[in-house]
Amino acid sequence: MGLKLRIVPDPVLRKVAQAVPAMDKDTSLFMHAMLEAMYENRGIGLAAPQVGELRRVIVMDVADEQKTGGALLMANPEILWKSEETFTYNEGCLSIPGQFAEVTRPKKVRVAYVDPEGKRQELEAEELLSSCIQHEIDHLNGVLFVDYVSKLKRDMMIKRVEKAQRMAEQEDEKSHVF
Ligand code: NI
Repeated sequence: MGLKLRIVPDPVLRKVAQAVPAMDKDTSLFMHAMLEAMYENRGIGLAAPQVGELRRVIVMDVADEQKTGGALLMANPEILWKSEETFTYNEGCLSIPGQFAEVTRPKKVRVAYVDPEGKRQELEAEELLSSCIQHEIDHLNGVLFVDYVSKLKRDMMIKRVEKAQRMAEQEDEKSHVF
């Protein structure tokens, strides 16, 4: 399953994803394909709308930073609790390549989700993993990290991505002319 990354301003990134009705083989395979696409693109998190699928599925791996045991694959993730204490991280997004901004979010969250085996799990996360989970759940609701900065800065960041994408497309065209 070749998954294609969606880049801003693709309208699918602004849609609300639908709950996964029940864990089945198709969903489990899709979750693993997403994880592979995430690693290929050197991301630490990916949400289904970023590959054009409006399902409530997210995958993450911040194992370098925290002792979570590697990949996390979640269907229907739901934040049960957020700390009042906050954490600020310079976030980026595979759908907004090359752009970064400091985003302040709750430092700790407790999240419930369904794993690829269909088991309900709960996890408490902090700092980078907490920010990552919140960033990915935002994607399921059509929210992007640039929504946390001023409209002026957001518009500028999206314009930069559009310009870079246009230039990349022109380069692609040039490489086909012979
Ligand atoms: Ni993202």
